[in-house]
Amino acid sequence: NKNILQDSHGRDHAYLRISLIERCNLRCSYCMPEEGVQLSPKSHLMTYEEIYEIAKTFVKHGVTKIRLTGGEPLIRKDIPVILEKLATLPVELSITSNAIIIDSFIDVLKANKVNKINVSLDSLDREKFKHITRRDQFEKVYSNIFLLIKEGFNVKVNAVLIKGFNDNEIIDFINFTKDLPISVRFIEFMPFDGNKWDMSKMVSYKDVMTYVNASFSEDQIERLQDAPNDTSKNYKISGYQGSFAIISSVTNPFCDSCNRLRLTANGQLKNCLFSATESDLLTTLRQGNSIEPIIQKAVQAKFKIRGGMDTLEKLQEPKLHNNNRSMITIGG
Ligand code: GTP
Ligand code: 5AD
Ligand code: SF4
Repeated sequence: NKNILQDSHGRDHAYLRISLIERCNLRCSYCMPEEGVQLSPKSHLMTYEEIYEIAKTFVKHGVTKIRLTGGEPLIRKDIPVILEKLATLPVELSITSNAIIIDSFIDVLKANKVNKINVSLDSLDREKFKHITRRDQFEKVYSNIFLLIKEGFNVKVNAVLIKGFNDNEIIDFINFTKDLPISVRFIEFMPFDGNKWDMSKMVSYKDVMTYVNASFSEDQIERLQDAPNDTSKNYKISGYQGSFAIISSVTNPFCDSCNRLRLTANGQLKNCLFSATESDLLTTLRQGNSIEPIIQKAVQAKFKIRGGMDTLEKLQEPKLHNNNRSMITIGG
């Protein structure tokens, strides 16, 4: 009885990321084109029953961790029911959110044992936040981070770095962890359809460490043990409550320990963040057929590194990285 979630490179996939919605209450330029994306008709989106059915199949085959993403997952109207349904499965349930409206969901999250919350926040400066997100919502996000900590959630802050825009805030972000038990994760800017990516805009793992080394002495900088299958390289400043990390998908991919699969809001399985091909689980489910053979085939077809863009040269070819969705409809 073969494990259908093991790929041809021997990787087991125990982590499913489910995008609940293609829309967002922000407009981050690194995530979506200015004009927006073509939205799926509502009838092509998974209902909460379908999300639950598909998730159940993955859990049956070894998934132990589910992360809900978007767009912004909390703007989906039936998010409470989705959480309630998924909470009945034997998985660790977590969410990645921009946290703008998360203060209204504290009880629902707690009731469904969602303890780990990753919050996207790319600047600690209100004007810069407004510029990158095209919305003036900095205070909501900032105060909600404090609220989440006070309410006992395990919080990580995700900051996508863009050269000349927020790389001058790296040390401010690290100092944000001085009195707060959070992890700030600096993310290398990645290419997706319509996000005007260019290698020269990316701030690399090495660049981040150059800033860190210029501001802290060698004996203040501790390299922490990374969790198994972690996306990030983790560090902390001695004596600080929190920690910081770098997610280096461009310069230092972690594909050899990849354990992730993605389900889009319109029910397509992506075997990799960068996969150009997708497998239509939703249509198969609606036809009353088993989705297991399709899942197995999709997992088998997974490339070893970044959907086949195994070198920096290939990653920089627009026709390769544009052969994918915009990030807003993948969910990170
Ligand atoms: P944890 O469960 O806390 O480890 O979070 P996570 O890093 O899996 O998820 P999150 O949604 O916070 O994503 C943070 C960043 O990591 C985003 O920019 C994602 O696009 C990126 N990321 C997440 N999973 C993968 C992956 O499988 N491959 C690559 N290349 N990047 C990923
Ligand atoms: N490059 C790197 N990270 C990105 N995210 C969105 N778009 C990009 C990109 N182009 C991040 C968001 C969010 C996470 C799920 O993905 O900041 O925190
Ligand atoms: Fe996995 Fe693809 Fe991300 Fe590599 S790029 S870690 S293979 S999802």
